[in-house]
Amino acid sequence: MENRSSRIAGFYNMKLEERLKIVKEWAQLSDNEVATILNFGNLDQRLAESMIENVIGAMSYPFAIAVNFKINGKDYLVPMVLEEPSVVAAASNAAKMLREGDGIKAEASKQFMIGQVYLMKVPSPYYASMEILKHKNELLDIANSTNKTLLKVGGGAKDVEVKVIETRRGIAVAVNIIVDVVDAMGANTVNTMAEAVAPYLEKLVGGEARLRIVSNYAIHRLVRAWVRVSPDVIGGKEIAEKIVDASAIAESDPFRAVTHNKGILNGIIAIALATAQDHRAIEAGAHAYATRDGIYKPLSRWDLDSENYLTGFLEIPLQVGIVGGAVKTHPVAQIALKIMGIKTAKELAEVMAAVGLAQNFAALRALVTAGIQSGHMKLHARNLAILAGAKGELVELIANQMIKDGKISFDYAKQLIEKYEGQT
Ligand code: MEV
Repeated sequence: MENRSSRIAGFYNMKLEERLKIVKEWAQLSDNEVATILNFGNLDQRLAESMIENVIGAMSYPFAIAVNFKINGKDYLVPMVLEEPSVVAAASNAAKMLREGDGIKAEASKQFMIGQVYLMKVPSPYYASMEILKHKNELLDIANSTNKTLLKVGGGAKDVEVKVIETRRGIAVAVNIIVDVVDAMGANTVNTMAEAVAPYLEKLVGGEARLRIVSNYAIHRLVRAWVRVSPDVIGGKEIAEKIVDASAIAESDPFRAVTHNKGILNGIIAIALATAQDHRAIEAGAHAYATRDGIYKPLSRWDLDSENYLTGFLEIPLQVGIVGGAVKTHPVAQIALKIMGIKTAKELAEVMAAVGLAQNFAALRALVTAGIQSGHMKLHARNLAILAGAKGELVELIANQMIKDGKISFDYAKQLIEKYEGQT
């Protein structure tokens, strides 16, 4: 036990069962625990093994539906996958209020991603950067020769930007290829293009290519969502005012802005998981965008207009796709897209931004009224009541009683069930 080593040669080459056996022994897993991990649920085992390396099983998360969403005049049922209670309920509740009037609107820009090549040791870097720009067409041709399918659907490399940057290891020339990736998330596409143009660049201006990779700071792939709602719909002018206060506080303090944005991402990442997106890319891009002015800011803003209607606005880079990668291979992701009736990456981004804005509204509204814990407590109490055996109307009754008495526990739920059942 003491001398065991995690250096396991050829682990990736072993059969899944062999790997699992090693881990079982390592962690002293019971047969039950092994069986739990080995349950692939709605993911085919072979597919799971082809998605990533060293697979020993799978892990399921709840797949839920947020209702009531009206976005750009169209009704949506929104699939959400996540582990956190209250998020789906809050989204549905917010969507119910925000669908009044015109509903939520959203508009995504073109689906432009950035592929980068960083060159170091370039002689005369400023002169070189102009030479690179002069050969833009050749660069675009090389990039586009790597993906004929993208060209056929109207996408492809469209532009080149060059920047000279100082690093602690000397000057680097950054070459950005701007690519319309249409319906793909696009990382693979632009990575291939960056790798393809790198040797040409080295030959053109000298120097050595170092990094040839996508930038997840997807500033050319922005989505905006906005909404206007009567104060009467959301509980009155006072609540609307307090939501604007909360927005203002986030604008002035990064400690609050980070949590504010976390609330937005609660909605966005839940859809990202349901549709098997690269959610790390979304998060990295979103947080970088929040810092674009040199200080971390909220991605959304709430105001009152001249009629005292509450208005909300969100701007976020979203790098999401509906073709290629796990979204194509994971059967649940395909079903999620079907439930939303989504046909383009642009539409997916718009729905995600709209849900992010609604989720943000739900959080702020809860925070400036009863606070976030009461909703959580309610859910927690309901869950305990169900676990303790309550059924039908008793679930609500017992949950409410536990909250009223300030005693939310499994044992108390059991006691209350006995008491209520004794009465009937
Ligand atoms: C919790 O997951 C999200 C919130 O903290 C967001 C916020 O504070 O705005 C409630």
